[in-house]
Amino acid sequence: MEDFRKPILEGKGTTDYERYLRTDDLLSLQTPMEKLSHPDELTFQVVHQASELMMKGAAWELERARNTLSQGDYGNASRLLRRANGMLVHPIALLHVLETITPYDYHIIRAGLGHGSGLDSPGFLSLLHIAPRIGEAFAAQLSSQGLTYDDVYRRHEEFFGLHDVAERMLDFDEQMQLFRFHHLKLAQRIIGSGVVGTMGTPVEILQQRMQHLAYRELWDLRNQITANAGTSPVYRKTSD
Ligand code: HEM
Repeated sequence: MEDFRKPILEGKGTTDYERYLRTDDLLSLQTPMEKLSHPDELTFQVVHQASELMMKGAAWELERARNTLSQGDYGNASRLLRRANGMLVHPIALLHVLETITPYDYHIIRAGLGHGSGLDSPGFLSLLHIAPRIGEAFAAQLSSQGLTYDDVYRRHEEFFGLHDVAERMLDFDEQMQLFRFHHLKLAQRIIGSGVVGTMGTPVEILQQRMQHLAYRELWDLRNQITANAGTSPVYRKTSD
């Protein structure tokens, strides 16, 4: 009879679980306990590493979503976008874990970061790379059918598939803004807002980068719909 406790896969580790997931390698990617600059450093490292993994997973699913969208398969494009957005919930939640590191303790960890900066995060950069390409694939679908963004929203039942994709793209854009907002608050809590980051850039750049939207057309469309509905009083700037 087969012994189910014996591993059958190749690799390091005594069980197939360890071999398949390469937990030996994964769990040796953090500084050994005796070399940590501060006991909080392990949390700092696992939060960053877990976030990189989730962003890698999300970028992969977004690339697949872009492909299915280009093929006109809106159902699967939405499904994959939803999955990617689900992954991005975790890097946001993990930022709050780092809020438990106090400023004085953080500076002990920070002294060992060199010029390391989130600006070079491979996961975040891959999200920034794929986002506009999904926008282009969406616009190409609209133009191939002679539709405008407004058509998709006004006739959302008729164009349910495209409308669903648009809403999931909006979810993604919102997640990116939420990440940037909570990350800004984290940086302000721990190092302050009037200081310079590990790459020499002022923390204010985080505020500027928060203004960036991947799908501005989808946000602006709401203004247009509200203006056309005539349900909003005329907007006047107070300085006028
Ligand atoms: C103690 C916690 C943290 C502090 C104090 C911090 C601080 C900063 C600062 C000051 C910047 C501006 C660029 C620079 O000068 O380095 C930055 C950028 C960035 N950090 Fe962090 N960070 C923290 C945690 C994280 C975590 C957990 C992630 C997740 C991967 C992350 C991802 C990023 C990204 C993606 C950017 C670029 C932001 C953008 O393009 O808008 N950071 N961080």
